[in-house]
Parts: sequence; C-alpha cells; structure tokens
Amino acid sequence: MSEARSQLPTSGGPTSNGPTSNGTAEARITAEAARRRTFAVISHPDAGKSTLTEALALYAEVIDEAGAVHGKSGRRGVTSDWMEMERKRGISITSAVLQFAYRDCVINLLDTPGHGDFSEDTYRVLAAVDAAVMLLDAAKGLEPQTLKLFDVCRTRGIPVLTFVNKWDRPGREALELLDEVEQTIGLRPMPLTWPVGVAGELRGLVEVETGEFRRYTRTAGGATRATAELVPADVIGAEEPQYWEAAQDELALLQEIGAAYDEKDFLTGAATPVLFGAALNGVGVARLLDALVELAPAPEPREDAGGDPRPLEASTSGLVFKVQAGMDRAHRDRMAFVRICSGRFERGMVLTHAATGRPFATKYAQAVFGQQRTTVEEAFPGDIVGLVNAGALRPGDTLYSTDLVEFPSIPSFAPEHFAVVRGADAGTYKQFRRGIEQLDSEGVIQVLTSDLRGDQAPVLAAVGPLQFEVVTARLESEFRAPVTLEHLGYSITRRTDAAGAQLLSGQSEVEVLTRRADGALLAVFSNKWRMETVRRKFEDLVLEPLPAGSER
Ligand code: G4P
Repeated sequence: MSEARSQLPTSGGPTSNGPTSNGTAEARITAEAARRRTFAVISHPDAGKSTLTEALALYAEVIDEAGAVHGKSGRRGVTSDWMEMERKRGISITSAVLQFAYRDCVINLLDTPGHGDFSEDTYRVLAAVDAAVMLLDAAKGLEPQTLKLFDVCRTRGIPVLTFVNKWDRPGREALELLDEVEQTIGLRPMPLTWPVGVAGELRGLVEVETGEFRRYTRTAGGATRATAELVPADVIGAEEPQYWEAAQDELALLQEIGAAYDEKDFLTGAATPVLFGAALNGVGVARLLDALVELAPAPEPREDAGGDPRPLEASTSGLVFKVQAGMDRAHRDRMAFVRICSGRFERGMVLTHAATGRPFATKYAQAVFGQQRTTVEEAFPGDIVGLVNAGALRPGDTLYSTDLVEFPSIPSFAPEHFAVVRGADAGTYKQFRRGIEQLDSEGVIQVLTSDLRGDQAPVLAAVGPLQFEVVTARLESEFRAPVTLEHLGYSITRRTDAAGAQLLSGQSEVEVLTRRADGALLAVFSNKWRMETVRRKFEDLVLEPLPAGSER
C-alpha cells in the first residue's frame, strides 16, 4: 500500500512544507478535489462486489494479486474473530476503503457490507460517496438488496452507474435487463458499451458512441488484467456474423429509442450509464474505471446542518461515517472513518469535534486497505481518513479545524428486531457495560433503555437479526463478556415524545424506550395493527416514522 500511495499522481501544487499563500493553497484544494472520485458499489450478495473491487484495484495497479482486499474463503488474511464469523456466514461486515490512482484521478472506493441486515451501515457509507456503481448479475438482474440500496441512492441524490456482471456465463438478454431497470426503478438506461455475443458467449464489447469493437483475452480467476484488442468491424463481422449482426440491430434499436448518454440525466438521477463485463475475467473493468473518471462527479460543496454549502476550499472539515473496532487482532484500537468535506487535511492537525467542542488530535491518521494500514500524511475533499483512538466519535459526527461547521447527522433506521441483553456471568458486569457502550457508539446496534428494565438489562434494537450475532460474538471475544439474549416480540418503531410516553405507559404490546445515543424516545409495538389501535385510542399521540431499513 505504501508503494501504491507513492504512485498517486500529484497535481503539481506546492507541498505541505513549502510556503503557500492562501490563494495557492485554495487553488491546490480545488485542483485536488476536482480529480477525486469517491464511490461505492451497491449490489445483492454474490453479484460479484468483492471480485469487482479486487479487479478495479488490480487495474489501477494498486495490488498485484486478486484476493488482497477481502478475507474471503480461500483468500488471504482472515485474522479477527468476527472476520472468521463473516467467512463462515459468507457475509462481509468489515468494509475496506481503497484509494488508488487511475489516469490522472485519485479513486476512493468505499466497500459496503453485503448483507441486508447491515443496511444501516451501508446507509452511512453512502453518506460519504459522490456516486455509486450498481452491480447486477447478468442472470439475475435487479435483486431485493440492490433495490433497497438503490432506493437509498435515490433518496440521497447519488448518481448511479450500472455494471452488468458475469457476462461470461449464461444469463438474460441485454435488452431485457435494461428494460427491467427502467420498469422497476424508473431509471433510464444509457448503455456506454454493448455486448457482442449472448451472456455466456461473449465475443467482446462495442463502444456505443464510436462503434469500436474490443475483444478481450480471458484471464483466469482475475489474477491478471484482461487485455483488450481493437478489432475492425469487418473482421469481427466476418468471424461472428450472427452475433455481430444481432448487436448491430440492438444498437440501432437503442439509437431509435434515444438511449444516448446525457450528462444532466445521469447527474440528476433520471438515467444511468450502463456497462457490461465480467469482473472475474477483468472484462470491461478498465472501461468502468474510465467511465468513473470521465463521468462520475467530483466532490462538491457539502451542505451543513443549516443548509448552507460548505465551500471545498474552506478550512478543513470532515464527516465521520463509520466507527469500527477490533478489525484485526493486531490492531485492537477503534477507528473512525472520516470523509474529508472541505480543505486540506494534514496529519497531526488538531480538529474540533463539533458534538462536544473538544479538540481531537490526528497524529494517527491512517488509510485502511483490506488488512493493511498505512499512515496518511495529507488528504483532500473526497478522501477517506481513518482516525485511530477515536473514543468519542460516532457515525454522523463532524470534525473541523478553524471555521465551525456541523454537517447533518446520519439518521438511524427504524429497528425491527429487539432483544434484552444480560451479562451471563455476574463477575463480568464491568466488561459487559463497557462492551455495550462501545458497540452502541460504533453504531453496531442501537441500545435502548427504560426505567422499568434498568441498566443491567438494556434492550438491543436491530434492523436485521445478524446484528445480534455480531454483538454477542464481539462481547464474548473482545470484551470477555458472554451474554444471553431474550428476544422481544416488537417489530414496529415510531418516535414519540414525553407526553406520548405517558399516554402509552401501561398499554399492552407497547413499550417506550430511550435511545442511548441521542435520547430519542422510541415507541415500539408488536405489530402494525396494535399500533393503529393505540393511535386511534389517543388522538394527540405523537408517532413519527423513522427512516426504514429493511422495510424499504
Ligand atoms: P459479493 O462480494 O457480491 O458477495 O460476490 P463475490 O465477489 O464474492 O462473488 C460471488 C461469486 O460470483 C464468486 O464465486 C465469484 O467468483 C463469482 N463471480 C464474480 N464475478 C464473476 C464474473 O464476472 N463471472 C463469473 N462467472 N463469476 C463471477 P464463488 O464460487 O461463490 O466464490 P469464489 O470461491 O470464487 O470466491
């Protein structure tokens, strides 16, 4: 990784050591921000996200061996206990942040957890990106988790590029897949490349705009880069007359229906550029990187909590979007992932934590690349910095250097699963308490309390049940605090107020709990019908919906 970092092209601006006037420093920030591309890949599990992530990094010459990114089975680097759990369950919770150079850009690729139960975590990651790549399996098209994640992108106004993966094996027809995208999510597809040969018999890709055809030489298991060779139309036309003609007919049809690329429609979320390929063989991967560099938006001024855009050149500021501990046995510390929103970050600078007004030293600023960590000396808008020993930081928090700013916090989802957690061993109560506090502030799960239940029996509230597994596994392995869970029969959450809490006290199949993180009063109900009955009974009862996770 350190080699990779030293490969990052510079914009030629003054270095941090050189004397800089404000004007030059600002110009450098603008120039550096303009060449950042910060994005995430959204997909249903098994669509090939890990494979694509590795392939992208491989193309950018950051890593020289597929498998360096994730600790999946048969791949390198499973070290922590709960990574072991991820491996067993085939899920990924610990996400990686990859930074690499491609052409004259710096690409920041944020990984998202693959499983729907961690959609809250995904939502936080999406708060830190400027674009998303929607990855579809050519045989399956739009799958439930993709739809949910796409929904989040739409809500947040994130432009989406689409990559249709696994074209090397039998799947559906290209036109049918595009039609599904348009019909199901109302996003107009704008193909940039078009496959020659049906799924499973891919002969190569045509550039929709220029008509150029590229043939790919297969590589085994994505271990090296696929090589693309330009082949003249008459040659491929003679070699593969059937597939070539079919592709020409489809391209003519696309032209007729007006599927040409339109920048405004992409950026406003009305349409999506579409690319085809096979991540496993490296087909179409470099083309995807080109599309990201050429089309995806660079960081823009982020709106603060008052709705005012914070200029990119303003003093340093960043948004904490993820907090994670125990990522690796060798690094038991706790790390906050911060997206730089404005200014230039320099390691060692003292930032202010907006939520508490306390100073935060950044001596240990790191980049996390799979299992590896390297020191970050400086960063610009769009970059992600990992801050170690981030005890007080929570997802959604703002850090700033001189000019005060606070970005809107990241909303918590409506939990749908609840369980009372108790220390299984009275002798480990201290560890139990510390563990619960830690997992709460990392945002691994929501911790709710009530006067009735007391401190020894907090209620854990999750968007998806796998969150409970993570919590129990981590309490046991990291905090040496084995626990028991008593599942509660609630499934619906609404926000209420103090008057509401009073009205609801004593009602059956309802409970009002306080969320520790922000003091919000949450009314939880066994089901929708019970909630409606109670609502009808108390006319003035405040019940506000929260952002939905799996309900989406
Ligand atoms: P995920 O992170 O989205 O969950 O998916 P992942 O990359 O792990 O890929 C899921 C499966 O799909 C893997 O196979 C992977 O090799 C395969 N795959 C990904 N991209 C392509 C592609 O372009 N073409 C083909 N044919 N397969 C692809 P697996 O057998 O489940 O796992 P593994 O043993 O290969 O890791």
